Amino acid sequence: MNDAKDIAVALDHVSKAFGQKQVLQDITFSVAREEAICVLGRSGIGKSVTLKLIIALVKPDTGHIWIDGEDITQLKGQELSRVRRKMGFLFQNGALFDFLTLYDNLALPLRRLTQKSKQEIEEIIDRALHQVGLSGDREKMPNQLSGGMMKRAGLARALVLEPQILLVDEPSSGLDRITTSEIDELLLEQKQHTTMIIVSHDVHGARRICDRFVVLDQGRLAAIGKPQDLEHHENETVRKLVAEKYDVES
Ligand SMILES: Nc1ncnc2c1ncn2[C@@H]1O[C@H](COP(=O)(O)OP(=O)(O)OP(=O)(O)O)[C@@H](O)[C@H]1O
Ligand SMILES: [Mg+2]
Repeated sequence: MNDAKDIAVALDHVSKAFGQKQVLQDITFSVAREEAICVLGRSGIGKSVTLKLIIALVKPDTGHIWIDGEDITQLKGQELSRVRRKMGFLFQNGALFDFLTLYDNLALPLRRLTQKSKQEIEEIIDRALHQVGLSGDREKMPNQLSGGMMKRAGLARALVLEPQILLVDEPSSGLDRITTSEIDELLLEQKQHTTMIIVSHDVHGARRICDRFVVLDQGRLAAIGKPQDLEHHENETVRKLVAEKYDVES
């Protein structure tokens, strides 16, 4: 077990229901600094909700969530904003402001949350857009971007503040294989100095990037461990989700 100071994110007996629907029940796991964890699970199981709990967009009914040693379930206002600032979040749908250009979408957090000069902001955004292959699109409005471009723009926005902890919800859904592997490379680079929690259905990419997998099934944490160790797990859903090749007949 790691020392507490080595832990970037920890969920401690977290449960969450929406109305009558119990989505997550008694979820406990921790992520070490600069570790990359991939969250796997069937559609609708609570993967996005897990990320939203970590960034405190959703509050747990019970349990605690520790970010860098602070229990964010107990924080409010400026204290909560301070801890949130350690995290970058790529939403599943990209979540850009549709009334701002791509450039201004990326500039917004830098203008609001940092003291950086106009020129510094320009340099950071140029670099981020280059990293995700959108250098020529900075003046476009979100509705002029394709689904995959929105996704890449969302990733660029998550990266501009250089977060210690990066939460990424399906980085490659809707992207072609070449772009997917470019995004994987980018995430691998980030991994050298960032703690990452990635929700993905792309097991191949997740295996390259992530040290461990967390598998959710029926509201519970069904398994946690290295991908190769989960291939023979007793839970069939875990085995199927972790397998590189999925055969419907099997
Ligand atoms: N704000 C909300 N209010 C009510 N129900 C919600 C809310 N957010 C999520 N849910 C419900 O919680 C469950 C889990 O949703 P979540 O978005 O986490 O699924 P997911 O595992 O990310 O699925 P997918 O792979 O399709 O993205 C779903 O039943 C969803 O309807
Ligand atoms: Mg989701």
